Amino acid sequence: MSGTSTATTTALYGGRSGRRVTVRDIAAAKERHEKWPMVTAYDAMTARVFDEAGIPVMLVGDSAAMVVYGYDSTLPVTTDDLIPLTAAVVRGSSRAMVVADLPFGSYQASPQQALETAARFMKEAGAHAVKLEGGQRVLPQVELLVSAGIPVIAHLGLTPQSVNALGGYRVQGRGQAGDELMADAKALQHAGAFALVLECVPEDLAQRVTTSLSIPTIGIGAGPYTDAQVLVWQDLMGLTPEPAKFVKRYLDLAGEMDRAIRAFADEVVSGAFPTREHSYR
Ligand code: KIV
Repeated sequence: MSGTSTATTTALYGGRSGRRVTVRDIAAAKERHEKWPMVTAYDAMTARVFDEAGIPVMLVGDSAAMVVYGYDSTLPVTTDDLIPLTAAVVRGSSRAMVVADLPFGSYQASPQQALETAARFMKEAGAHAVKLEGGQRVLPQVELLVSAGIPVIAHLGLTPQSVNALGGYRVQGRGQAGDELMADAKALQHAGAFALVLECVPEDLAQRVTTSLSIPTIGIGAGPYTDAQVLVWQDLMGLTPEPAKFVKRYLDLAGEMDRAIRAFADEVVSGAFPTREHSYR
C-alpha cells in the first residue's frame, strides 16, 4: 500500500520532496505560473546528475535514435531499443518524473497498440508517463491511455517522426496552420494530456497556446513564453556538432572530452600514466 501524497508547495525545479514528481505537482506549478526545466536522459549516470541538480522531469526521447544509436532520424528506433535506456534512467534517479517517448510505429496503428506499448514502458522500465506525437489523429490513443491511468504528454509543431511528411525539419504553425495547431492543442488537453510539447513554432503562437491551456506547455524552439523548456542534453552540453538555432550551449563538452582523451592517450604513450598513485602494491 502506498501512502497519500500531496502536491508540492515548493518549486518544481530544485524542490526536495523525497518522492517522485507527479502530474499533480506539474499542474500545481502551472497554477503558480512557475517555469521549469526538462531534459532528455538516456543512461543512469547522466540521469543521476540531472536528478541531483533538481530537474523535475526527464524524457527518454526517441532522439536516442540519433544521439545514442547514431541514426540520422528518430524513425528507426524501436520500443526494444528504448526500454533498457528508460529503465536505466529510472534506476539512476529518485525524484524526477521519467517520461518514455513512444517510438515511431509503436502507437499510430490503434489505441490498443498505444496501450500495449505504453504498458511495456511502465511495467518493464518503470516509466511514470509517456509522450507521443500528433494532433487529431492520436486523440483516441490519448483517451485510452489516460483512461488506463497512464499520464500522457502530447507533442505538436515539428513532430520529428513525421519528418518525411513535413518535408524536413522546419518551423511549423505559421499563418493558418497556427489555428489548426491551437485546435489540436485544445483537443489534446480535452482528451486528457497533462502537458504539451511545442517544437519549432513561432513564439507568439506558443504564447497563445500557453495562455489558452490549463495544462503546461513545454517548448523546444518555441520561444520564451512556454511554461517549461526542454532540450536534448547533448545539445545543451555542446556534444552535438551542429545543433539547431534554438539550442543554447552551456558547455563545450566535445572540446573538454577531446582535451581529456588526448591527455590520457599522450600519457599512456609517454608512460606518464599510470604512476604508483594509480597502482596496487
Ligand atoms: O525525442 C526527444 O528528445 C524529444 C524532445 C521533445 C526533445 O521529443
